[in-house]
Amino acid sequence: MSIYKCLKKLYVGGIALLSIAFVISGCNSPKSKIGSEDAATDVYVPPGKHDKYYSFMSGGWTGNVSVYGIPSGRHLYTIPVFSQTPTNGYGYTEETKSMLNTSFGFVPWGDTHHVQPSKTNGDYDGRWVFINDRNTPRIARINLKTFRTDEIIEIPNTAGQHSSAFCSSNTEYISANTEYSIPLPKPLGNGVDVPIKSYKKNFHGTISLIKVNQKTGEMNIGFQIEVPPFDYDLGRFGLGVSKDWVFYTCYNSEEAHTLLEVNASQKDKDFVLAVNWKKAEQAAADGKGQLVSSNYDHNLRDPETGVVKTEVMKQVRVLQTSDLKGAIYYMPAPKSPHGINVSPSGEYIAEGGKLSTVVPVESFSKMQNAIQNNDTTGSLGGIPILKYESVLAYEVKNAGLGPLHVEYDGNGHGYNSDFISSEIVKWDLKTGKVLDRHPAYYSTGHLTVAGGDTRHPFGEYLIALNKITKDRYLPTGPEMFAGEQLFDISGNKMKLLLDFPVEGEPHNAAEIPASLIDTGQVKYFKLSDNHNPYVTRKEHDAKVVRNGKRVDVYMTAIRSHFTPDNIEGIKVGDTVYMHVTNIEQEWDIPHGFAMKGNLNAGMLIMPGETRTTVWKPLQPGVYPFYCTDFCSALHQEMQGYVRVSPANSDIKLSYGTNKDI
Ligand code: CUA
Repeated sequence: MSIYKCLKKLYVGGIALLSIAFVISGCNSPKSKIGSEDAATDVYVPPGKHDKYYSFMSGGWTGNVSVYGIPSGRHLYTIPVFSQTPTNGYGYTEETKSMLNTSFGFVPWGDTHHVQPSKTNGDYDGRWVFINDRNTPRIARINLKTFRTDEIIEIPNTAGQHSSAFCSSNTEYISANTEYSIPLPKPLGNGVDVPIKSYKKNFHGTISLIKVNQKTGEMNIGFQIEVPPFDYDLGRFGLGVSKDWVFYTCYNSEEAHTLLEVNASQKDKDFVLAVNWKKAEQAAADGKGQLVSSNYDHNLRDPETGVVKTEVMKQVRVLQTSDLKGAIYYMPAPKSPHGINVSPSGEYIAEGGKLSTVVPVESFSKMQNAIQNNDTTGSLGGIPILKYESVLAYEVKNAGLGPLHVEYDGNGHGYNSDFISSEIVKWDLKTGKVLDRHPAYYSTGHLTVAGGDTRHPFGEYLIALNKITKDRYLPTGPEMFAGEQLFDISGNKMKLLLDFPVEGEPHNAAEIPASLIDTGQVKYFKLSDNHNPYVTRKEHDAKVVRNGKRVDVYMTAIRSHFTPDNIEGIKVGDTVYMHVTNIEQEWDIPHGFAMKGNLNAGMLIMPGETRTTVWKPLQPGVYPFYCTDFCSALHQEMQGYVRVSPANSDIKLSYGTNKDI
């Protein structure tokens, strides 16, 4: 990038005051853009061979999670989560649409941010992946046996839920916070209809800890903690020595409510909030705080029927900071911090800084000493503030400009990404001494090291999740996929191996070794275990049942026909439920179902499963339906007809396959 463009970018970012010298050193010459050609062999996965890692990437505004193979960068799958997905009918079929219910109604889109794999003893266990929706505060749990969303829980009393979904060492809790503080209903706050200018008086932040059932993964809100109205941005649970704690960065300690880019950047220091979640859990168990009326939806897939059920929840326990003596502290951090990442041992807590040139690294043991010695400098909202000098281990100097996030390799190194100077910087974890730096294109947000937020990182690969794509690929008009860069970090010097484009904005990602996931995959569903209320296990049992204006079609699909494939006696004004069961019992033989004139998506039905689409025919006619998935050589022949007659017609209901009805 030219110096001119770099400077322009800085001005656009509104922080042109930062050192010009830094800008020049941080902008990269065209020569360094090229990865080495021999890197191709390092990412080459021969046809028929598998990648070593799965990379789960948040899809940002796609509302979904996309899955890539590493090191090849091949796109393996997209997991529908918070967005209706016409690819397979998720969120459109009767079985799945309740997954998108919220207290606001049906919300068919989400903004996914932070992917967090489940952990056991601080290491990935390959069971679930959790991810948040920032816009409509929700957390989803994805089952890694099926790569499906099994559960979504809404988080009440919160907004702009960026600071989530972080996972504790044994997946006891998932954490989710307010970024955009809001007024809260009585008795928590002074009501929700208040002037915006009364922010300091009437707005609140909350920290939410969502309890996870260790066996089933089922989530329930354990408790919330009401905190001052700052913007809680990112977080991480501790590991090892610090595993009972959870840490969050926050900015806007100015408590501004307008033009935050200026008004929330006034103070020299913002904060890290540290909470001893074990003690908080005990306080909640002891009945501290209050049970507050709060409406939120909890959507869970029933493993028996495969149908998602919504439970409307009514209350949540909210703790005040006064309930958490000795369990909640602020630690000062340079202004407007962003990422926060705990080292594998749990001793070091590194913070990113959007406007910073250093990475401050705090020490857990120093923090414990400071707590013991009451080494504080006042308090905010009842939360004692520990002294910066007392908790600081070191600052990484020359960490680049706008260091946002840090990950660890398990060999005593930290790596930070730089948004403004577009680079990855490697440093020594004990001293903070910079050891290596490599340009990244362009404006890296998160970075991820395989297992980089666990007790035992795998190291090996680092991925820079770049925000700006510009000229890295063939242009696709004004809108482009984001670009990721894969680095080999096994040697002393980082080596750029591969650029690959990814769907949406992969805000954050997690790499899990394939060996933890690939052996336990569900390949098809046993028909005998299918307890969907509208299942049809044999062609012989297929039927069409009228009940007033409701018609239920119990249909089977097998290579290469539907039963029934001719239906008559449907009338305008009917509501027709097409329940299609795929009665195949073999891996990778889905059937599709699409209906002309149906104001709904098509659907993809996995072997052994039942899926239902609702169709309300509006005009008389004969409507073809067909299989959308190329299932056999005679896939084209997998088709049928439904005759729709006027509302007052006396055509009798009849149906069949291979017979005149
Ligand atoms: Cu079934 Cu194509």
